[in-house]
Amino acid sequence: MRMSKSVLIAVLLLGACGTKATQGNAAAPAATTASGDGSHLPADFARLPMKEFMGHVMQNGGEGVWRWQGFVADEKGERSLFPKDDKEWEEAESGALTLAELTNLLLMPGRRIDDPKWDAAVAGVRALALKAATAAEKHDKDAFFAVGGELDEACDECHKQFIPNFVGPQSANPGAPPAKTS
Ligand code: HEC
Repeated sequence: MRMSKSVLIAVLLLGACGTKATQGNAAAPAATTASGDGSHLPADFARLPMKEFMGHVMQNGGEGVWRWQGFVADEKGERSLFPKDDKEWEEAESGALTLAELTNLLLMPGRRIDDPKWDAAVAGVRALALKAATAAEKHDKDAFFAVGGELDEACDECHKQFIPNFVGPQSANPGAPPAKTS
């Protein structure tokens, strides 16, 4: 049971490497288990509590997209926050791709909640971050703005399901690495 979960995590993490790498791992269950359960990782791996991870890392990741959207009004008058030139669109694209990559940290042993709804919520945020990156690459302001709103909802999709009584992966996921349980 625990081993098949580890294999699944390894496959998820290696998804982008192609079939060959995935097959290679499936053929070597001992090595797969070692990397899948995180037992070889440093003791402070994924130690940042979820609340801190969210408030400092995920929120900051979302801002990498949202800071390029909408309008502000201050003493200098009203002005657009949307990227104005190639360099700014490039930064917006980088922000979106950074967010897409950050979502992977929610799937790491010690942080992932062993529930398909968790994985689906993560995938939802990642898909939109990638969509934002594509819109930024095309300098498509309308599409970029629209994705920003959807992204906010996608974050809340997980919050609605998991924040009430959130206890973290230690008790919810018995397969979490030892570092989290001590
Ligand atoms: C897969 C689930 C999941 C996804 C996706 C997710 N979050 Fe969270 N988030 C949580 C959980 C769980 C908590 C509650 C953590 C706690 O209180 O211990 C939380 C809490 C937060 C908090 C409150 C932190 C605090 O100080 O109380 C912020 C801000 C936040 N998330 C931002 C985001 C943003 C921005 C996104 C999307 C870009 C996002 N989250 C996506 C699970 C998720």
